[in-house]
Amino acid sequence: MIAAIIAAAGSGERFGASIPKALIQLGDRTLIEHAVSSISSVADQIIVTAPSGYEKEIQILVGDGITVVTGGATRSESVRIGLSKVSAGAEYVLIHDAARALASPDLAKRVVAALKNGDVAVIPGLAQTDTVKIVDDSGIVSSTPDRATMRRVQTPQGFTHELISQAHAQSGEATDDAALVESLGKPVRVIDGEERAIKITTPADLSIALSYLGSASEFRSGVGVDAHAFTADKNRKLSLAGLIWEDEIGLDGHSDGDVASHAICDALLSAADLGDLGSNFGVAEAKYEGATGAQMLSESLTKVKNAGFKIENVSVQIVGNRPKIAPRRAEAISALSKALSGAKVSVSATSTDGLGFTGEGKGLSAIATALLVSA
Ligand code: CTP
Ligand code: MG
Repeated sequence: MIAAIIAAAGSGERFGASIPKALIQLGDRTLIEHAVSSISSVADQIIVTAPSGYEKEIQILVGDGITVVTGGATRSESVRIGLSKVSAGAEYVLIHDAARALASPDLAKRVVAALKNGDVAVIPGLAQTDTVKIVDDSGIVSSTPDRATMRRVQTPQGFTHELISQAHAQSGEATDDAALVESLGKPVRVIDGEERAIKITTPADLSIALSYLGSASEFRSGVGVDAHAFTADKNRKLSLAGLIWEDEIGLDGHSDGDVASHAICDALLSAADLGDLGSNFGVAEAKYEGATGAQMLSESLTKVKNAGFKIENVSVQIVGNRPKIAPRRAEAISALSKALSGAKVSVSATSTDGLGFTGEGKGLSAIATALLVSA
């Protein structure tokens, strides 16, 4: 069996965020979640070393099947803590940095293949493109090693369980695990690494990493408009932006006439290229008689999800003389967001200087935009 340790206990000082680096978001997931995907297809047991105080948060992110332990003061110590949890039956151990979040599952497979082929220590490496100088304490170059013989090494690094336990037995400190194996005089094989396994150290590295994800996400924007006339029915209350407005005149409509919700539904459907409100919630369908804005929003969300999208955000502007939106804006945002399973929603309003049917107080309209991202 194969065990994997993910070193994720660093504070990310050079990154400079207020949270540990492993919890930084990269695209749709945190670095630690990405790192788990890098090795999960080859590992039977996964151990994550977490920064002290973040164990629970990381356990929730990575799920129950993974062992989360508190890391140590240095990377090497964290790895040793991880090693103490590796099951006795593990033949090989992979050690991976959460900071190399985008290492591909194929890289881990190739490391394992080399181990199964008889190598006792296998590390990915890339050619060194810059010339490297060895410099003394006073800043004077003491030598220039031959660039052609150098490799920039990465993780996951793979070892036989026996060898890596032996290498860490002396409590040595090194910036990678292979260095401890080298000091035992054992052969360390370098296989081809990959650019996308870049170590995320600074915010600039995160931008580079994002560019590897770039093509994975597709963004789609959509627009929707709706308008309804004020009703003559004195008993019909105004439904607007997911709220009931007790003292306002209601709007006519087959459903509850909530123009803000309907405009958002249209924007969502149009962004996903699923048609419009009419083609999805036909006026002919009896089940939508009296349907609330919230119901239609949540059905639209389901359609958009089924088409493979997630909501990035929606924004709606209500056009009319009254009601005044500002006093209930926060309430409206939370009602609409709730109907959309917590999506980011913004609500604004405007009047039209007395012009048009909204300016003449005959009704209300709303315009909405939606931004979707492929899930
Ligand atoms: N790491 C660890 N335990 C430590 C220090 C580092 O598990 N005591 C992990 C980091 O979480 C990271 C990997 O080792 O995934 C490589 O370390 P590095 O990129 O240096 O991350 P940080 O130590 O968090 O960053 P910095 O050095 O900028 O503080
Ligand atoms: Mg560090």
